[in-house]
Amino acid sequence: MSTTLPGGTWTLGDLTVTRFGYGAMQLAGPWVMGPPADRDGALAVLREAAALGITHIDTAEAYGPHVTNQLIREALHPYPEGLHIATKVGADRDAQGGWPPAREPAALRRAVQENLRSLGLDALDLVNLRLGNAEGPQPGSLAEAFETLAELQRDGLIRHLGVSNATAGQVAEARSIAPIVCVQNMYNLAVRHDDDLIDTLAADDIAYVPFFPLGGFTPLQSSALTAVATRLHSTPMAVALAWLLQRSPNILLIPGTSAVTHLRENITGAALHLSTDDLTELDKIAH
Ligand SMILES: NC(=O)c1ccc[n+]([C@@H]2O[C@H](COP(=O)([O-])OP(=O)(O)OC[C@H]3O[C@@H](n4cnc5c(N)ncnc54)[C@H](OP(=O)(O)O)[C@@H]3O)[C@@H](O)[C@H]2O)c1
Repeated sequence: MSTTLPGGTWTLGDLTVTRFGYGAMQLAGPWVMGPPADRDGALAVLREAAALGITHIDTAEAYGPHVTNQLIREALHPYPEGLHIATKVGADRDAQGGWPPAREPAALRRAVQENLRSLGLDALDLVNLRLGNAEGPQPGSLAEAFETLAELQRDGLIRHLGVSNATAGQVAEARSIAPIVCVQNMYNLAVRHDDDLIDTLAADDIAYVPFFPLGGFTPLQSSALTAVATRLHSTPMAVALAWLLQRSPNILLIPGTSAVTHLRENITGAALHLSTDDLTELDKIAH
């Protein structure tokens, strides 16, 4: 597969995807609960992502809940050849919008079936086991949960596995149970706890998929970032994405947006080249 999207492609197991992907979480209502205010606009963003050649979309049944997967199906099913959808299991939603863990074997089997049904698929391309909580990764064994997903993979319901919101120890534990093709953790210009993990995964050809690449619900704000963006006649969001693509070849982007204009801006912006001086200045942002 060839692409003109910035960053080129990456291979997740046997699935080739564009390194510039799309994260669908922000398509649901406020705080990822309920339907979007602009349903047609949400469908338009998904259709534009596919039309622009993006072949990696990240989602979860918990977004909405159910809303994001239903939008993806409505916008794009039957899916264009080469489009790959990554989903997550391991967390539910409660009435207050919380994300309670749901990692018991029965809950995981149910979640995989729900994703298959809502996305209209016979097998899921990539399922991440979502660990930890809203504060971030938490220690603890994932063995029972990950073995359940490995069993569902052997049954043919899942093509590839990954982990999300995971500690380095949990990544190693998952790999001792079944091969993984990616780790999806929080990482961006300001939050760089996973620097060592990214390099270890790169050496083993495992993708690292940063969530909140633009800072999440409150996009990144920093005077150093604005200074570099201004000097390069670019924008802070473009610099943040270009920096991730340059940081390591195994990094895949899944920036979220509910606006077609932002989607296009982000693709154009991520092609920006950052010099060694730019990178040194941007290092000041890391916490
Ligand atoms: N595994 C996990 O636990 C986990 C947790 C969180 C997220 N995720 C995944 O990661 C993906 C990305 O995270 P995210 O969407 O929450 O955060 P993000 O990509 O860091 O940022 C999204 C925010 O940036 C804004 N934005 C995007 N492009 C912009 C532009 N060009 N100019 C100005 N603002 C712009 C969006 O607003 P507009 O809508 O106005 O563009 C939105 O508010 C999610 O979609 C989800 O798939 C996973």
